[in-house]
Amino acid sequence: MDAFPTASRRLAPNSGASIPGVAEPAAAVKPITFETIREHPRVKIYVRKADEALAEIGYTEHGERHVGLVAHIAYNILKRLGHPERDAQLAAIAGYLHDIGNAVNREHHAQTSAVMAMQLLHDMGMSDIEIVRVIGAIGNHHENDGDPTSPVAAAVILADKSDVHRTRVRNPDMIKFDIHDRVNYAVEKSFLNVDEAAKSITLELTVDTKISQVMEYFEIFMTRMLASRKAAKFLDVSFGLTVNGNKLT
Ligand SMILES: [Fe+2]
Ligand SMILES: [Fe+2]
Repeated sequence: MDAFPTASRRLAPNSGASIPGVAEPAAAVKPITFETIREHPRVKIYVRKADEALAEIGYTEHGERHVGLVAHIAYNILKRLGHPERDAQLAAIAGYLHDIGNAVNREHHAQTSAVMAMQLLHDMGMSDIEIVRVIGAIGNHHENDGDPTSPVAAAVILADKSDVHRTRVRNPDMIKFDIHDRVNYAVEKSFLNVDEAAKSITLELTVDTKISQVMEYFEIFMTRMLASRKAAKFLDVSFGLTVNGNKLT
């Protein structure tokens, strides 16, 4: 006898296919595309409101530019390293939704984002098997309390940590006072170079050292670099950083 008949009935129509003992869905569920997520009116609200909340407390830009870029880079990482197309798409979806929890609170926003994404994706009809993969990546993206628990998670971590750029600074007048703003403002160009042949990922930064010294970058981004290295290791590639053409790690 089924110990949880109610839960089983509720889960059955939206379950995936790769768990032994879990029934296949009656009809194939059409995969939810990245474009569907990005263009969804509810997603637009959550992304924009999360960014507005961070603007209020003085954080750098975390809106459609940031999450769109993270989605794009996460997709490319998995594609270039030969992972399945759908895995790359799930990384893009996770990348787009990874910061919506900031609409609730900056603290624990990775986990909050994951729970919010679960509800959104469920309402859009994504299968539970895919939802779990997406929210596992979202909930692990933050360098302080996250780990690469899957290739999708590793790709989102690498993509998120690579977005250091002048355009993220909301008020350039603040660069004298805020080290995060100063470091971001000093970065004129950032590119995450995925070299599938050399099995390496390199974050290539072009920095105006008149604005911020390279040491300042390390001062605030050391934990990000360590998270990136860990994520790269999970994907079986090395991680490096170059600043103005000089290899630093
Ligand atoms: Fe985040
Ligand atoms: Fe982020």
